[in-house]
Amino acid sequence: MTEQSEETLPVVVLGGTGRVGSAVINELTARRRPVVAVSRHRATAQDMPLVTSRAGDVHDLREALRGIQAAAVVIAVTPFTAPPESFASFDTDFYTHIVNQLQVLLPAGTRVIDVAVTAIAYLEDGSTVSDHEELFPARLRPFSRAHARGADRLGISPLNGTVLIPAAGLGVQDSTTVSQPTLLSEPVSVEDVTAAVDHAALARAVADQLAVTTPGAPRLLVRTA
Ligand SMILES: NC(=O)c1ccc[n+]([C@@H]2O[C@H](COP(=O)([O-])OP(=O)(O)OC[C@H]3O[C@@H](n4cnc5c(N)ncnc54)[C@H](OP(=O)(O)O)[C@@H]3O)[C@@H](O)[C@H]2O)c1
Repeated sequence: MTEQSEETLPVVVLGGTGRVGSAVINELTARRRPVVAVSRHRATAQDMPLVTSRAGDVHDLREALRGIQAAAVVIAVTPFTAPPESFASFDTDFYTHIVNQLQVLLPAGTRVIDVAVTAIAYLEDGSTVSDHEELFPARLRPFSRAHARGADRLGISPLNGTVLIPAAGLGVQDSTTVSQPTLLSEPVSVEDVTAAVDHAALARAVADQLAVTTPGAPRLLVRTA
């Protein structure tokens, strides 16, 4: 295979038709990065310059990733746009399974940015946001657990991962002027986890992180300054 510079290889965005995925694609294409957007329902609207849409299910990524030499992968998938009535049939290994597949399908050291959920963030007293009913409804804990397990799995995989944890106010104040993201290592304060962050700022953080290499899959909260 011909060697290509990292910048010319595509960034694969899992969940590319979603709110976070679309914002990430807008940011990447603004930076002239080619993108492969993967979701179950292929979006023809995303067949724009630099973007290739592929239909694919994260339960089996072999076809979606076939033949792609990826510069990086962004995990921006959620199995439900709104919380379901019941988590009885929800697989808390949903994200672990994605990471496991990426580990098999991609070369070791491939950059992977995992967009997680506020609930997994560690607070200054050693608890996580999901431990606090007033911050995160207890009934949604299976979802938080799934994200936490996926992040842990990424941390011990040979992939070059980073976990970006959006603050709870993601999208609450989306505006046309893009604010700068602030990235914070854990533990973080309640004020930080409840802060605002707009989708464009989160996308900027994702794109910035593609060029950063820190071992051990660091976890960073993203909020707007
Ligand atoms: N404050 C916070 O912590 C916060 C807030 C919002 C989101 N998030 C996180 O951000 C990430 C993205 O969320 P979002 O708001 O962008 O979600 P979204 O708008 O609901 O988009 C979800 C995306 O995932 C795709 N998808 C769902 N199931 C799939 C499957 N089995 N295989 C392939 N693609 C699948 C969807 O497309 P198809 O349905 O066509 O497959 C869609 O592109 C998630 O990890 C979510 O937890 C965090």
